[in-house]
Amino acid sequence: MNLLKNQIAYFTSGNKNNSPIIFIHGFPFDHEMWRHQVIYLQKKFFCVTYDIRGLGNSAPGDGQFTIDMFADDLEDLIDELDLVKPIICGLSMGGYIALRAVERFENKFSALILCDTKSAADNDEAKLKRAAGIKSINSDGAEKFVRDFVTGCFSPKTIKNKPEVFIEILNRSLTNNPTGLKGCLLAMAARTDTTSYLAKIKIPVLLICGEDDTLTPPDVMKSLGAQIPNSEFVLIPQAGHLTPVENPEKVNMALKKFLGRHIS
Ligand code: MLT
Repeated sequence: MNLLKNQIAYFTSGNKNNSPIIFIHGFPFDHEMWRHQVIYLQKKFFCVTYDIRGLGNSAPGDGQFTIDMFADDLEDLIDELDLVKPIICGLSMGGYIALRAVERFENKFSALILCDTKSAADNDEAKLKRAAGIKSINSDGAEKFVRDFVTGCFSPKTIKNKPEVFIEILNRSLTNNPTGLKGCLLAMAARTDTTSYLAKIKIPVLLICGEDDTLTPPDVMKSLGAQIPNSEFVLIPQAGHLTPVENPEKVNMALKKFLGRHIS
């Protein structure tokens, strides 16, 4: 594990001379959710994973986070590692960060991969759900909130057929600091809508969505893709919101095809 100046924990695998790819995990997870993709791609790519501020090994600080601050952290990481035109791959909250970063500094990236995410900001109902989550963490501690949230991310098929995958992710998520969890909830509730930038994206974009994703369902992601000129959509069977861990083989195949076509 390496630390940026601002206490962001990051991890690298592969040869620094290969094309770089940065993976950004979702909420309330950590860099380990990309383990299968890193193992699969590290021979051909320089793979970088990190823990978003406040989650995993990255310090929660005062818990006052914004998505823009997360995009700043990503830029710091690119600078620290001297990465030239990395591919950026984000899942859900990681996708919010990737989309905001592309809106702010698209010319720093060579391609964008969006997994189980959306460009729309929270509506009032979603904001109130975040508020209820913060209230529940304050009154009952983080365990119930994390358990319920993580359960809702998985396809019921995965929980039934691969319980060990669900349990590992749940147990890792339960180690998160409550201040970091609440900071991420506030950042997501306050995020801007990146939809108006979709039509302006010039780099190639891959969209990946689990067929049983109820948080960012396939229809939502298809319509996201329809607004991006150079994009393609892949539906992942046997997966909910956490495609890279629920069906790593199919996600890896989709990454291989897309990267083979667009990255030399
Ligand atoms: C995530 O997986 O990052 C979350 O589902 C994002 C969200 O709650 O909006």
